[in-house]
Amino acid sequence: MTALTLSTAAAPGLRADAIVIGVAKGTASRSGNLVVAPGAEAVDKAYDGKLAGVLETLGASGAEGEVTKLPAPAGFKAPLVVAVGLGAEPEDDKDGAYDGEALRKAAGVAARALAGSKKAAFALPVGDAGDVGAVAEGVLLGAYAFDAYKANGKDAKDKKNGKAPLAEAALLGGKPRDKEHKAAIERATAVSEELNRARDLINTPPNDLNPESFAAIASAAGKEHGIKVQVLDEKALAKGGYGGILGVGSGSASGPRLVKLTYTNSKADKHLAFVGKGITYDSGGISLKPAGHNETMKCDMSGAAAVFAAVVAAARLGLEVNITGWLALAENMPSGSAVRPGDVLRMYSGKTVEVLNTDAEGRLVLADALWAASQETPDAIIDVATLTGAMILALGNRTFGVMANDDAFRSAIVEAAEEVGEASWPMPLPEHLRKGMDSPTADIANMGERMGGGLVAGLFLKEFVGEGITWAHLDIAGPAFNEGGPFGYTPKGGTGSAVRTLVRLAELTASGDLG
Ligand code: BES
Ligand code: MN
Ligand code: ZN
Repeated sequence: MTALTLSTAAAPGLRADAIVIGVAKGTASRSGNLVVAPGAEAVDKAYDGKLAGVLETLGASGAEGEVTKLPAPAGFKAPLVVAVGLGAEPEDDKDGAYDGEALRKAAGVAARALAGSKKAAFALPVGDAGDVGAVAEGVLLGAYAFDAYKANGKDAKDKKNGKAPLAEAALLGGKPRDKEHKAAIERATAVSEELNRARDLINTPPNDLNPESFAAIASAAGKEHGIKVQVLDEKALAKGGYGGILGVGSGSASGPRLVKLTYTNSKADKHLAFVGKGITYDSGGISLKPAGHNETMKCDMSGAAAVFAAVVAAARLGLEVNITGWLALAENMPSGSAVRPGDVLRMYSGKTVEVLNTDAEGRLVLADALWAASQETPDAIIDVATLTGAMILALGNRTFGVMANDDAFRSAIVEAAEEVGEASWPMPLPEHLRKGMDSPTADIANMGERMGGGLVAGLFLKEFVGEGITWAHLDIAGPAFNEGGPFGYTPKGGTGSAVRTLVRLAELTASGDLG
């Protein structure tokens, strides 16, 4: 990953391949059409204070995502200036402070534009430690590339398969000896490294990432970071009566696993449980998905990847909260041993489920993991899952839905997501939709009304949360995997959706600011 440093160096004397500066859409009455953002004063001065005009001549508008390259002024050691758009300049009441998410996106766009370069200096408008953290995250997340399966992809010298990610970034304007600035870099590094690891897991093809290999990766990472890892294999799952996870995994040659990650902090007085859907490949099972709907289904373990990343990041940051992470891992495949539409599963909670559609498998593995998590009576349970196509229809592919059995908790999650730059939206759990899942044979069916399918899935999960436990469900089916081109600090493919929200929730719980 890109190496980060805080630097007090002045832009002209910096040995680097490029200097990144910010430009914004000015308020016409106040500052003209284009403004050079604070942090780039030395660069502007070398252009005789005419940099905004030069950039306008080159077609720059300051729009988000825009990159304008120009040769560095005479006397600069770096040959190139990269001007990246920040969107609108801050409103008058913001005291010149740019929004953290605008900085994060701009840093990400610039880092991606600089792929193939060795070193870049970022002279963006950073005010406080929060801004330093945002730029650092933007760089580390934006520079991400998944090249493990490209021929010679690991060999930076071989450019035929694309350019190597930016190797080194110096953040100017931050204070290297300031405690808060240093902590911001440390936080951004831990969160981004683990988030990028989640992206790697999501992007890894399903012939290499199966429940067993995912569990092995989790075990190794747990050892490294002082997290206790317990893995239940098929035998242990059968002994424990985990009928949901076993049922979904029964059609695959790779057996299912339930992984429990336990992070404890001696100063903690709160306990969170994170539960992740980890379908390493979702073919739909006997209710097979048609071509056109199964090509990206390696992404169906994105919830488990997010939970895994968040627990490891929390451990690396030493957050004063106890967290149990549950990864419900299975591969959903059709075969002679697969669960059939019409089968009844006896779940870990003891409830029976009539499987009407084997493609509604996520709720089955989550049901067992939610019940397992409930047995420890944590202060709250949050599950994360690429659960329904219906949620994508409702919210599009950049926003995740948040459902909960507690309205205040749901609002707190939406707020935490907003704080870290993740788009989410509160969704209801209308009781009347429960009736559609009535089964003549079992306690409940795994499918109900088609309309409001995301909410139906949420209502199903609710049945497997222990009495009196605060619970929320994040349906990340839309934002988990980016099938379009890269944008901001989000690459094509696995995005790492929900990781930063979970980490933020852990922080808020540790500081006593969440319930
Ligand atoms: N993994 C899918 C949901 C999904 C769809 C995630 C597209 C990401 C992109 C899930 O297991 C699924 O198949 N859900 C069904 C449920 C239905 C059969 C009740 C769906 O949404 O169609
Ligand atoms: Mn499915
Ligand atoms: Zn699925």
